[in-house]
Amino acid sequence: MSVDVEQRQRANELRELVNYHSYRYYVLSESVISDGEFDRLFNELIALEKAHPELVTPDSPTQRSGSDVSEDFPKSRHPAPILSLSNAYNEADIRAWEERTLKLLPTGTTLDYTVEPKLDGLTVVLTYERGILTLAATRGNGEIGDVVTPNIKTIRTIPLRIPAHTHADGKSAPERLVVRGEVMFLKRDFEALNERQAAAGLPVFINARNAASGALKQKDSRITASRPLTMFVYQIVDSVGITLDKQWDMLDYLRDMGFQTPPDAALYPTLSDVIQQIPAWESRRNTLNFEIDGIVIKVNDLRIARELGIVGKDPRGATAYKFAAQEGTTKLLRHVISIGRTGRVIPNAALEPVFIGGTTISNATLHNYDIVKALDIRIGDTVVVKRMGDVIPNVTAPVVALRDGTEQVIDPPTHCPFCETPIIRPEGSVDFYCPNVHCPERVQRQVEFFVSRGALDIDGMGSQTVKTLIEKQLIQDEADIFSLKPEPLLELEGFGDKKVQKLMAS
Ligand code: IVH
Repeated sequence: MSVDVEQRQRANELRELVNYHSYRYYVLSESVISDGEFDRLFNELIALEKAHPELVTPDSPTQRSGSDVSEDFPKSRHPAPILSLSNAYNEADIRAWEERTLKLLPTGTTLDYTVEPKLDGLTVVLTYERGILTLAATRGNGEIGDVVTPNIKTIRTIPLRIPAHTHADGKSAPERLVVRGEVMFLKRDFEALNERQAAAGLPVFINARNAASGALKQKDSRITASRPLTMFVYQIVDSVGITLDKQWDMLDYLRDMGFQTPPDAALYPTLSDVIQQIPAWESRRNTLNFEIDGIVIKVNDLRIARELGIVGKDPRGATAYKFAAQEGTTKLLRHVISIGRTGRVIPNAALEPVFIGGTTISNATLHNYDIVKALDIRIGDTVVVKRMGDVIPNVTAPVVALRDGTEQVIDPPTHCPFCETPIIRPEGSVDFYCPNVHCPERVQRQVEFFVSRGALDIDGMGSQTVKTLIEKQLIQDEADIFSLKPEPLLELEGFGDKKVQKLMAS
């Protein structure tokens, strides 16, 4: 059956609508239609394209789901070198950078600066031809990168067509636009991915950056699609039909086109203002929902930045101020086992308390016993501990040179420390499990999860309360929560009238 004009028009319309509403939903986080309405539009488009494959266009939202067309990553040459950044570690370094810059400029020149978070992700270069995303490539060696277009299309915050909001203010796409940004995981998406990996018996990722890299380098873009990456765009690498003179305007323009730009970017009139703001940036680090490892200070005037040129691979017009590593060393005192809600055995390290990145750390995760073995982490070792945002701290390595021979190898338990049931390791799994569904620790985790914010959200049911209820045998699983009566609760120590009333109401 051939396609008639009406069908072609409807496909165009659906494509625009779905792209527009995804942009509102994923980039602006404010949708104007219901999920159901969205699904109806999307399904209509899928059906139409299925019946008439010739209607599929490269910017169709149906192209985001990934395909198994295996590509051996063809190479692509970037239109301009994808440069790196010089580093500064303290105020003196930053001042010295400005001095070097000013020496190359006419006397009396004053500079203003933009500050952006230094996103800890992977650089990707996107090419839009007449508004359509036609190519996405990794940084590679800075000149030639891997073509990862199908994988990149799975990322919902990347517009397939610009401007992403075709229904808005009449701005049109330039003839050609090549932009650069960082592809990464939001912290919560990374944690959720690891929970899914663990639940499926697959290895967990130790850091978000490596996980993002792995997700991007998949041969099967459906795997990339199952790992919710995001992208922040901060630079125009090359363009035809648009020139911008200020970094600040560039960020504005990129947002107008529908890109996510680095959150909290700011414009400061002098370098002293930038320096004054650094402590605020450092303390914001742990509250942001993505990983940053510093800030990038850029000369706002792009014509001056261009004139300044490059040294080696670093443009003179920008520098990265790197935060002090959230890393330290301490003694691993004990191997502590916890049991997750699926029965998974989680190895943890009790540490000699150490102050890292603003807090005292006395516990860290060891992930799984394969990792413990591979890194050869032992009890009594001096270990490197790394904090990554608000994620549980990691033990990343032992300091082998400091061993005195008394260190003890960490072995997986043979029996559950909470219920004595023999521990099992399902075939092909990196994890060990307590198979006893009545294991008190496991039940505790299940109930905690069940009443938690993301689930039933029962107020007044913290982990101590759950523990008491299990100990006093008032509940044995999640379902028992619904048959809890106030009377036996009132007999428990620390359970007053008010508390019980509140709990029952919740
Ligand atoms: S600007 C010529 N801005 O940090 C422009 N880079 O250590 C140079 N990065 O290779 C890059 N966030 O991958 C810039 N807001 C940001 C950034 C950023 C992260 C990365 C980028 C670069 C590396 C340099």
